[in-house]
Amino acid sequence: MPRTTLFTNIGELTTNDQAPGREGGPLGIVRDAALLAVDGRVAWVGPAAEAASAVPSPDEIVDLGGRAVIPGFVDSHSHLVFGGDRAEEFAARMAGRPYEAGGIRSTVQATREASDEELRARLAAFVGELHRQGTTTFEIKSGYGLSVEAEERLVRLAREVTEEVTFLGAHVVPFEYREPDGPGADAYVELVTGEMLAACAPHAKWVDAFCERGAFTAEQSRRVLEAGRAGGLGVRVHGNQLGPGEGVRLAVELGAASVDHCTYLSDEDVAALAASDTVATLLPGVEFSTRQPYPDARRLLDAGATVAIASDCNPGSSFTSSMPFCIAVAVRDMRMTPAEAVWAATAGGALALRREDVGALRPGMSADLVELDAPSHVHLAYRPGVPLVRRVFRAGEHLA
Ligand code: NIG
Ligand code: FE
Repeated sequence: MPRTTLFTNIGELTTNDQAPGREGGPLGIVRDAALLAVDGRVAWVGPAAEAASAVPSPDEIVDLGGRAVIPGFVDSHSHLVFGGDRAEEFAARMAGRPYEAGGIRSTVQATREASDEELRARLAAFVGELHRQGTTTFEIKSGYGLSVEAEERLVRLAREVTEEVTFLGAHVVPFEYREPDGPGADAYVELVTGEMLAACAPHAKWVDAFCERGAFTAEQSRRVLEAGRAGGLGVRVHGNQLGPGEGVRLAVELGAASVDHCTYLSDEDVAALAASDTVATLLPGVEFSTRQPYPDARRLLDAGATVAIASDCNPGSSFTSSMPFCIAVAVRDMRMTPAEAVWAATAGGALALRREDVGALRPGMSADLVELDAPSHVHLAYRPGVPLVRRVFRAGEHLA
């Protein structure tokens, strides 16, 4: 027998499905709504008053008390398998030291020294944090191992908690490869595209490269991304974070699902994104935590690009796992409306991961719901820092 759950008495239901008669443009809002989940999938959405006739007696009824419900957050960018932290570096930065990609190497050291059990326990705690804050789908990148064994371990551990695993061997050149004593960046790229990719690809769905001054050139990034693609992985790119560069254009040219950061964009970059189906993923926690200028979401949206918001949760540039926090910052400092930011953190993230089963509450999709202690989605930006996530359901089941 299929299991049926009726979520009812929803004051404002954001579906991200623009069916006729709904409000809020892309948010597809239904007021005084109900949603039926059958075996974890959305089966019916409509006015609560029609639920009794539309829905035969469900196994369970969940009363939302007139509160707002949105789809579960889809966090399409995080780096959650690592050892140690960089609180001192953060404090120094707040005292005026600039952020540099090189800080990644101190986390590489701490990660290599941590046992599997330590990394697993840490990861489990982060997953709990994500769930409690309304994230029901999340991506995790490797990139703090930077040797064949260490990267293989990170993607393997990440795969224990999510399907969305990204191989980021090309995060920075590890210290043992750096000139003048080591074999150099090109030799490291050879390792990444050869033995390391072969070891990691079985656990991963995506390949990524940090195309930035202090990390990898466009040419080196291209070698990594093309090798990953030839090995069956989808492409995503870290680009244009610390300054203008070729990351965005490379991502668009390779048909990447997403290019992430997008802080320093030329008019050509914006036009290229708008003409492509590569998602521009913005990471508000990074500029918050590095004191760099925020990316201009308005410029991208007005040009017609697809924008997602993700946490980039990592110990260096953005140690937040909170999508509500990212939404609030995106609205306050990146010129997004609350509606655009909520869409970007749900449907936008799903597009960035090329997922068609999450990010919206449409019949057939996973019944991933976040109940807010608020009457409207707007409160996520309007009440920054307030824990508004009340209950979280994934595939129709209570998760947090
Ligand atoms: O996405 N940009 C590159 N990688 C991470 C930062 C990692 C770190 O500082 O440890 C990011 O911001
Ligand atoms: Fe990142």
